[in-house]
Amino acid sequence: MNLRIDLERLISEIEALAAFSDAEPPAVTRIVFTPTDLEARAWMKARCEDAGLAVRQDAIGNTFARWVGSDRAAPVVGTGSHIDAIPNAGKYDGVVGVLGGLEAIRALQRAGFRPRHSIELLIFTSEEPTRFGIGCLGSRMLAGMLSAEAAQKLQDNQGASLNDVRRQAGLAGELEQVKLPSGYYKAFVELHIEQGPLLEREQKALGVVERIAAPASLRVLVEGSGGHAGGVLMPDRRDALCAAAELILVIEQAARTSGATDTVATVGICDVFPGAVNSIPAQVRLSVDVRDTSLQRRDGVMRALAEACRETSARRQLAIHTEVLNADAPADCEPAVVAALARACHTQGFSFLPMTSRAYHDTLFIARVAQAAMLFIPCRNGYSHRPDEYASPEDIGRGTLVLAETLATLAA
Ligand code: GLV
Ligand code: MN
Ligand code: MN
Repeated sequence: MNLRIDLERLISEIEALAAFSDAEPPAVTRIVFTPTDLEARAWMKARCEDAGLAVRQDAIGNTFARWVGSDRAAPVVGTGSHIDAIPNAGKYDGVVGVLGGLEAIRALQRAGFRPRHSIELLIFTSEEPTRFGIGCLGSRMLAGMLSAEAAQKLQDNQGASLNDVRRQAGLAGELEQVKLPSGYYKAFVELHIEQGPLLEREQKALGVVERIAAPASLRVLVEGSGGHAGGVLMPDRRDALCAAAELILVIEQAARTSGATDTVATVGICDVFPGAVNSIPAQVRLSVDVRDTSLQRRDGVMRALAEACRETSARRQLAIHTEVLNADAPADCEPAVVAALARACHTQGFSFLPMTSRAYHDTLFIARVAQAAMLFIPCRNGYSHRPDEYASPEDIGRGTLVLAETLATLAA
């Protein structure tokens, strides 16, 4: 098959999608179900329809764009990723898997390929946890790992419920119907930027992902006692921020001393109330993100945090509440799909590195219900979740070509 990627068009689409943003370029901010996200979704739907794909949305807004195969009853071959972007992000996270997936389908169409299995591009809702606190919302529900009942309880930081927000976004239908029927997929492949430095360092063209690390996230609320920054003497203070600072360092230390460099922990949000220079912090909210390839070590960091919360609240005489938002198991990719990706790399003459994804992806959940794997392309310096995230057109082209080749094998 003579596969050709229209790189110029693909790159111009990546640039066009980046313009749907609530941040100044080059930064991209696109939070799920904001007007900007809805405009980007409408633009994506039009691109898919231009390619002759049949587009549908489920009740949580996962978007399926199908190239119907000759055997309509055969299970689907899926590809895709997400287009939501965290605050102050770059252009490539998720987007390369969505627009690259679309271009892979167009390349197969141009080459005259006729799939037996339908090939479906999937744009997952809210892979990023920014708005509702939990990542991979759409794929969790597709995999049946987040019930409709639990999803209905989710709220954004303005107190708006997920149900109200998605209905305002025009999504009717019942959340109970989001879960995929069993046997829906024959296979699923997600193309993504690496979000780490290994491919560049090892000078490999592509990464074939064999395993995805286990993520967990928590909220911690520290309730102390506020007051006048001049009037309250130090022995009488119950400063919530000082307690939170101790917890942050415990989390860092627990990750640093876990015994493996695979353990990573981050406190990415620290909201201080009331937040005035001359007022003792009365309340602090922290967000905590812990990950590891080993569930035992990841849970060890969570236990260290729980113990520190008990000890700090007793010593400083303040209340500390923790809420675990998610604590997911790692996922193993399917050897048959990994092998198909490796073969496609060989066919196209590209070197590759078998690897573990330390970032989480929708494939973490799709792998629970489908034979799934991922393909990584290098990103400059490993930078991601920042505006200077960059993947070269050549690397994007290589990833898209290997994706197309793999989809052809899987859908034949
Ligand atoms: C996904 O964006 C992640 O945080 O790994
Ligand atoms: Mn991301
Ligand atoms: Mn991503």
